[in-house]
Amino acid sequence: MKNIDSRTHVRGESIYLDDIPEVRGTLFGAAFGSPVAHGIIRHLDLTAAEAMPGVVRILTYKDVTGENQIGGIVPDEPLLAEHHVHYCGMPIAFILAETDDAARAAIKKITVNIDPLPVITDPRDAQALGHLIVRPRTFRLGDTATAWEQCAYIFDGVADTKGQEHLYIETQGAYAIPQENDGIKLYSSTQGPTAVQRAVARSSGLPMHQIDVDVTRLGGGFGGKEDQANMWAALCALAAHVLKKPVKYALNRMEDMAMTGKRHPYSSDFKIGLDENLKIIAYEATFYQNAGAAADLSPAVMERTLFHCTNTYFVPNVTATAYCCRTNLPPNTAFRGFGGPQGMFVIEAAIAKAAEALGVDAAVIQAENLNKTGDEFPYGQKAESEAHACWDKAVTLYEIDTIRSKTASFNTVNLVYKKGIALMPVCFGISFTNTRMNQARALVHVYTDGSVGVSTGAVEMGQGVNTKMVQVAAQVLSIQTERIKLLSTSTYRIANTSPSAASATADLNGRAVQIACTDIVNRLRAVAADELQVDIDGISLKDEWVYVGDQQTDWDWKRLVMAAFAKRVSLSEHAHYATPEIHYDAAKEKGHPFAYHVYGTAIVEVTVDCLRGTYELDAVKVVHDFGASMNPLIDRGQIEGGIVQGVGWMTMEEVVFDKAGRLRSNALSTYKVPDIYSVPKEIAIDFLQTQQDNLAIFRSKAVGEPPLMYGIGAYFALRNAILAFNPAAIIPFDAPMTPEKVLLALYDRSVKGDTVPNEQTAITLGVKS
Ligand code: MTE
Ligand code: HPA
Ligand code: MOS
Repeated sequence: MKNIDSRTHVRGESIYLDDIPEVRGTLFGAAFGSPVAHGIIRHLDLTAAEAMPGVVRILTYKDVTGENQIGGIVPDEPLLAEHHVHYCGMPIAFILAETDDAARAAIKKITVNIDPLPVITDPRDAQALGHLIVRPRTFRLGDTATAWEQCAYIFDGVADTKGQEHLYIETQGAYAIPQENDGIKLYSSTQGPTAVQRAVARSSGLPMHQIDVDVTRLGGGFGGKEDQANMWAALCALAAHVLKKPVKYALNRMEDMAMTGKRHPYSSDFKIGLDENLKIIAYEATFYQNAGAAADLSPAVMERTLFHCTNTYFVPNVTATAYCCRTNLPPNTAFRGFGGPQGMFVIEAAIAKAAEALGVDAAVIQAENLNKTGDEFPYGQKAESEAHACWDKAVTLYEIDTIRSKTASFNTVNLVYKKGIALMPVCFGISFTNTRMNQARALVHVYTDGSVGVSTGAVEMGQGVNTKMVQVAAQVLSIQTERIKLLSTSTYRIANTSPSAASATADLNGRAVQIACTDIVNRLRAVAADELQVDIDGISLKDEWVYVGDQQTDWDWKRLVMAAFAKRVSLSEHAHYATPEIHYDAAKEKGHPFAYHVYGTAIVEVTVDCLRGTYELDAVKVVHDFGASMNPLIDRGQIEGGIVQGVGWMTMEEVVFDKAGRLRSNALSTYKVPDIYSVPKEIAIDFLQTQQDNLAIFRSKAVGEPPLMYGIGAYFALRNAILAFNPAAIIPFDAPMTPEKVLLALYDRSVKGDTVPNEQTAITLGVKS
């Protein structure tokens, strides 16, 4: 089934927040953010701004009618700064004006006097000073302390990954319209309508039932709107509540880049021990998570780093500790993979280090250590593994030996171009790591003309979840998809939703739709049994017709619906689903947190221009564990998008903050995302379709986040290409591998006395450094 949005998308008719027709009298908001990263506000001068044409009002923390607090996990984030500012861009005042331009012009007239305090941007510095947002956590399996003795080889090192800008095409924004008796109707570009509702309730002082958050779709979220849509929604709602006027604020790109959090940068230490057969015997890692100035979702992200610290490998002895470090950057937040990619990068770095030192291909170590069904993860859950199935299929299907020999011969004959390859196996746990979030609800109405309206807590953000919800309803009701309309996500129709996140949206909401539709079908079957005077067990609905056994009757869907209505049988159902089996004990750091895992293996091939340091991705070839994909077209799109986003994180996307905590990569001129020219020239995706029972909707495994981690392979493929040119290069594990870093590594001569083996090439070409 095609994505139900494809028609309006290509015609430019899909409605996003900024397309909603504005109600007369709408005011436009703009936030004034702190110009410095850390300090105490001495004086805030609003007079010049207030005098600007079109300015109606400027709100500060003093105007907050409820609690000046929007922190979800930890209450450490004011809606508007009071005295202390913790990061550049932290909202201090909210201007309301008659036009967008007037609001933004007035922003420039605000002056603020801030006594500066020391700025911390490095998580290791924060940890050394004890600036931790939550307690550190440690996952343990076996005993690393004694395991080192059994190791033939031990390597240690440091591995760092930087941030990543979400760069959803639609920026953050909200539109609040006051209703009678203090109610607020709120449109928000959010993955978490309930999170927005809660933040608005708390900061306005209104009860949740006064706030209707309504979301049609997002132009992308990627985790950036799981929690961070709350701020803008709360500001608009507060202003609407105070001024009794509709208030809208859609951030422009630079505001969005400067004020919102990103993927967490991490700095990590690792130590890995292997036996003679290259079995990993022990692994230790310490993760310093750069959380930014407030908790936001950082504690949960940090937890997932620990869950994925051994990626898809079975390691019998593991000690992994993570620190949630408070710095003076904008609060970092969820981003596709949710800390998992950062954890996986470190063990891949450890394996690469061992491989390079031992002179073996990293793939040999990877293959030797893939987990098997029954193997225990450090957190206690036992694997139901497809790791070998994916890996084995990838190496045979894509003929890794041929790729290897072609790469080797290319590198022999080419002086200035070198190819590199890497394999990247992935294992990602599906479920919110916070067990209680794994619940969802759906509301299904069948109307008397046979058309159907479906509401869920799922937010469509391009990942195709609405299409999947239509598929579920159509299949269970056994009617054409054209009869079904997927309604917007509204807190008035579906309450207490979890955000659309953790790749679990289709599973959770789809199961709820399945239950609701099944209940309706059963009631309709009872009606048919009554009308046809047969036993209900013999009745089924197939392709819009009522069947008795194998026999089609002359009762179609519409007739049956009308008959049910005439008999006063309910044609509506509200259903609840909670993932069974999962549990977790955070005191012991053991349990069964995930409904299942998704596996896959990617082969990444790159070519480096060794004169310029530039590179191209030749191919990413994947075998991916879909379970039984319910929509291969959408799922393929998710894999392609995930790969490109992951490759971007690992290669060209470089978030740069200076020591003063100011974002230097604050626009698309200085922050590069993959474009049509830099995406892999070939993306091959093979579906590993399994028949194993799992907790996914229709056994179609979650697909949103796992493919991002294939992109990690690009980093290691580039490393291998560089080493083909300069085997003596000392390349720190410091992603992203930008062309600048590639160039430095190509001509690195830090090993004393060593010459660059390809120096002759460089001399010949006149580029001797
Ligand atoms: N795909 C598109 N097109 N846009 C997005 O914002 N978000 C990703 C992924 N794929 C995203 C996307 C993230 S971070 C998650 S968690 C999942 O989609 C969420 O949707 P799902 O649970 O339906 O997979
Ligand atoms: N993934 C994504 N978002 C979340 C999670 C998670 O595991 N836990 C809380 N929010
Ligand atoms: Mo995705 S990072 O769980 O929104």
